[in-house]
Amino acid sequence: MKSRTMLFLITLIPAALMMSLSACGQSESGSDAAPEAARSDPAVAVHAAEAATVTFEERLENGQKLYATHCVACHQAEGQGLAGAFPPLAGSDYLAEGGAKVAIGAVINGLSGPITVNGVEYNAVMPALSYLSDSDVADIVTYVMNSWDNPGGEVAAAEVAAVRGGEAVSGPADHPISSGSTELAYSGAPTAMTGEAARKFIDSEGPNMTQQEFDVATEVYFQRCAGCHGVLRKGATGKPLTVDITREKGTDYLKALITYGSPAGMPNWGTSGDLTEEQVDIMARFLQHEPPEPPEWGMQEMRDSWALLVPPEERPDAPQHDRDIENFFAVTLRDSGEVAIIDGTTKEIVNVVKTGYAVHISRPSASGRYMYTIGRDAKIDMIDLWMDPPDRVAEIKVGLEARSVETSKYHGYEDKYAIAGAYWPPQYTVMEGDTLEPLKIVSTRGMTVDTQEYHPEPRVAAIVASHEHPEFIVNVKETGKILLVNYENVDSLSVTTIGAARFLHDGGWDASKRYFLTAANNSDRIAIIDSRERKLVGLPEVTKIPHPGRGANITDPEFGPVWVTSALGNANITFLGTDPEGHPDQAWKVVRTLEGQGGGSLFVKSHPTSTNLWVDSPLNPDEGISQSVAVYDINNLDAGFEVLPIAEWAELGEGPKRVVQPEFNKAGDEVWFSVWSGQDQESAIVVVDDRTRKLKHVIKGPEVITPTGKFNVYNTVKDIY
Ligand code: HEC
Ligand code: HEC
Repeated sequence: MKSRTMLFLITLIPAALMMSLSACGQSESGSDAAPEAARSDPAVAVHAAEAATVTFEERLENGQKLYATHCVACHQAEGQGLAGAFPPLAGSDYLAEGGAKVAIGAVINGLSGPITVNGVEYNAVMPALSYLSDSDVADIVTYVMNSWDNPGGEVAAAEVAAVRGGEAVSGPADHPISSGSTELAYSGAPTAMTGEAARKFIDSEGPNMTQQEFDVATEVYFQRCAGCHGVLRKGATGKPLTVDITREKGTDYLKALITYGSPAGMPNWGTSGDLTEEQVDIMARFLQHEPPEPPEWGMQEMRDSWALLVPPEERPDAPQHDRDIENFFAVTLRDSGEVAIIDGTTKEIVNVVKTGYAVHISRPSASGRYMYTIGRDAKIDMIDLWMDPPDRVAEIKVGLEARSVETSKYHGYEDKYAIAGAYWPPQYTVMEGDTLEPLKIVSTRGMTVDTQEYHPEPRVAAIVASHEHPEFIVNVKETGKILLVNYENVDSLSVTTIGAARFLHDGGWDASKRYFLTAANNSDRIAIIDSRERKLVGLPEVTKIPHPGRGANITDPEFGPVWVTSALGNANITFLGTDPEGHPDQAWKVVRTLEGQGGGSLFVKSHPTSTNLWVDSPLNPDEGISQSVAVYDINNLDAGFEVLPIAEWAELGEGPKRVVQPEFNKAGDEVWFSVWSGQDQESAIVVVDDRTRKLKHVIKGPEVITPTGKFNVYNTVKDIY
């Protein structure tokens, strides 16, 4: 609810703060928490008995009120539905035939797939409204059955309970509304830009709106919608919302979708309380006007934002402390806009460095001396790990929104260049490795790989440094292209473009570091590049929304070297053969699929000295799953996994306590996990002994705020994962 008032203050409050609130608001809106509690509560029985004393008229009245709150946006005031989108409940033959049970089922479990109502076919998605109590659902359905020429009848709460009880709650598919927040937490982050500078226009063909409403909507859109729908609304994780589409669908339809969300990943902004009814209405009208365009960010803006805090000649010639820098961890403190540098050997926090907002990744330079972090606000901070304590020596902003940074690793070019990829503007920037001075900016706007249509906003996703050539490998999301950017001569960059599939996201190297595997999560494929020969060698299909992070390399007892990814959309853990010489028949094919704890996984991890494969599932709607990890014995994969209650081990207070991202120490005998709670709640880092799978150490305290990604210097430099 907090965020509702927050929105009115939108222009006064930094983007960072805004999102952190909305993110936890979303993550806590677990749609099944309430019924779960109700079912096990003996008070429910008492309540049911009391309910019997309520008259039929009172029930109808209550049902009518609830209908107005929960159903009217789609099925409309008189139950007449909305042509082409939402079927009528008034005189519905579908309802008459199936009876109240059909309505109860639709409300509790949602409804999708083709159905015919009064001779008209619908094939849309009704989200589950399972957060409604049994007696409320009973009243709504009773009201519906007794209105608009429907056959009548009276529904008891026990009938609703029976329908609810029959449905075992398991994977994310059963949690339609919160699956929206799964995606939200992951890709729905705010675009760190304001509407102010955007070119705005209210055109006469869209519905009426005032300039002030338009400004509010622009702000809300950039904060809350652009992450999924794209700044220019051309679509990404979310569907395209261009005016040709939105005007046809109309205000009512748009309002309904924004209010209730959809099981396909659209968050329920209205019912979660994140947007008020008024804001939903403004957004629905806003979407029917041309999208305002945020400003470009060229060399001038970059140079203005660039600060060389400590020039190279003033930096130390040797490490100023005797800690093992190779075993340092850079830990993202997401919502506080900081990175903690933690000594992996002593587990001490060596320094907490102010960085850009919600640092997405940290990458050490090839020598391991410098750590580069990139915030979602496209700010890069460069930290000198030789200093005591390690601190920032340079900063720059490469755009308005970004996700990736990398440094040159090819022999002879160690620490020489840095590169960053931006979401907005869609471009990448090559910089001096020791100062972050911007050298070259290259736009990624262009044609898509499949339909060969122009895309104005192809965002730069993961970037890795080639070990085979002086090249950066740049993934361009919306066009589905992989760019091999050769930095031998920065003044005349040569770029090899490899067509892969949409939308390229992130990935990592195979164990030999010759092949780069990257997830194309809109086509549910993995694109595999031979970085030596500069060509695509495979594009195998995997299951829904692969999310490898960098993936994990292990030696499968049967299939030899494999690269492993988990998925956001389901519980599968997919193994791809990566040994074209030793196991040519299995190369670039899915050789094994394990079933993990559940969907909502972000990362898998192993280490060459370990026989364990670790799999997180922080975005799973089930707390038991999001707060623990699964670990497999690589030599006995068929035995299934062991579950370790990482969050419990941290002994924290209230909070979502999502367990995220396993990361090994340098020796490969410890694995570190973040226990990620809300900004005002206690979080921790839990260190587990990889060999015994027992708790080894917990790092917590006031400085550990919303830890997410952790990057061990040695393993990250060497691309060991
Ligand atoms: C976000 C929009 C939305 C909301 C809110 C919504 N529905 Fe639906 N409803 C749908 C859609 C879409 C379908 C058709 C699904 C399909 O095509 O398979 C549907 C189908 C139905 C059906 C079966 C078809 C028919 O017309 O008889 C019933 C009954 C129903 N809804 C009842 C309800 C009730 C009761 C509520 C409120 C508690 C509600 N719905 C809220 C979108 C919605
Ligand atoms: C976490 C990702 C995500 C975010 C954030 C998000 N959306 Fe969506 N949105 C989706 C997805 C996925 C769909 C497609 C849903 C479907 O196919 O049922 C969608 C669909 C829609 C639709 C329906 C489009 C159609 O053609 O049916 C509208 C309207 C919409 N979103 C508006 C918004 C607005 C406004 C915001 C910000 C307040 C927003 N979305 C934020 C993921 C997102």
